[in-house]
Amino acid sequence: MLVGGEGTRLRPLTDNVPKPALTLVDRPFLAYMVEWLGAHGVTEVVLACGFLPDRLREALGDGEHEGVALTYVVEPELRGTAGAIRFAAEAIGDRLEDRFLTLNGDVLTDLDLSALLRAHERRGARATLGIYGVEDSSTFGLVACDAAGAVLAFTEKTGEAVPGEISAGAYVLERSVLDLIPPGRKVSIETEVFPRLVGDGLCALRLDGYWMDIGTHERYLQATWDILEGRVETEVRATAPGLFLGADSAVADSARVGPRAVVAARCSVGEDAEVADSVLLAGSTVGAGARVSGSILAPGAVVEPGARVDDAIVAENERVPAQR
Ligand code: GTP
Repeated sequence: MLVGGEGTRLRPLTDNVPKPALTLVDRPFLAYMVEWLGAHGVTEVVLACGFLPDRLREALGDGEHEGVALTYVVEPELRGTAGAIRFAAEAIGDRLEDRFLTLNGDVLTDLDLSALLRAHERRGARATLGIYGVEDSSTFGLVACDAAGAVLAFTEKTGEAVPGEISAGAYVLERSVLDLIPPGRKVSIETEVFPRLVGDGLCALRLDGYWMDIGTHERYLQATWDILEGRVETEVRATAPGLFLGADSAVADSARVGPRAVVAARCSVGEDAEVADSVLLAGSTVGAGARVSGSILAPGAVVEPGARVDDAIVAENERVPAQR
C-alpha cells in the first residue's frame, strides 16, 4: 500500500500528519483500508512510507490490525508510485508472492477486490486495474478498454465534466511487472509503467460500489458524511445518521450539533454554540456562542467564544478570535 505522499492538497491537516493517519470519524484512515483488505482475505500489508513515517507507525502500531500483519518500509527519498513498489518489494525480498495487490493509500472504498483477483487469474493478465465509473471525470485521467477488458489507452484529464471510467487505485500485479521499473529513481506507475503494458497483458475490471479518494478537503468531508449516513460498508457506528460524538467529548446541553457533524475525542462545544457540516478533530474547542459550519478543525484548534468559522480549515492548535 502506497502511503508515502505528502498529501499537499489536504494541507494544513497534513502538515504534521500523513494523509493515511488522519482521523476519519473515529479511527485513522489507514484502519479502514486495512479492514477492507482483511475482508478480502489479505493477511499481510506492506506499507510503503515516505513522508512522516513515524506518525504512520503510531497510527496503527507495529504488529497487526484486525488480524492483518503490518510491515513498514521507508524510502530514503520519495520514489514515486512505481519506484515505491519496487523499493518495498526489494525490502521484503522472498516474502513477496508471485501475485500481489497494490493500493493507493488514500481511497475509502468497499469495492470487490476478490472479483478483481478472480478476473486477473481468469484472464492470465500481467496487471489488472480496478476501474470505477464516475459521472464527472474532469479531475481524473480515463482508462479505455475493449469488450474483453484489455486496456486500450489512457487519456489525460480533460477538464470536462463528462462520464468515464477512472483507475480506482487498486491493482493486481504479477511479480514480472517489477522488471519494468528502473531501480533507484523516481518512477510513476501511471505514466511510465502501465502505458508500456498496453497490449501486453494489461487488463481492467469495472467494479461497482463505493469509492472516494479522500485527498481534498471537500472529499474528506464527503467521505465523513458517507460513512455516517451508511453509503459505504464500514465498521463505524454512528451516534445517529450523520452524527458522531466521541465518548469523552463535552457538548453543552444548549449547543446545537448537526445535522451532520463529528465531534472527536476530548473536544468541547460550549453553551449555545452551533456546529453543522463540520468535523472537530481531537481536542479541538468551540467556545460558547461560536458558530462553525462546513469546516474542519485540526487537533487542538480553538474557536473562541462568539467567533464564526464558515467553509474553512483551522490548523492544528490555531485560535480563531471573535470578530469585532
Ligand atoms: P497530493 O500531494 O495532495 O497530490 O497527495 P499525495 O502525496 O498523496 O499524492 P497522490 O494522491 O498522487 O498519491 C496517491 C497515493 O500514492 C497516495 O496514497 C500517496 O501516499 C502515494 N504516493 C505518492 N507518491 C509516493 C511515493 O513517492 N512514495 C510512496 N511510498 N507513496 C507515494
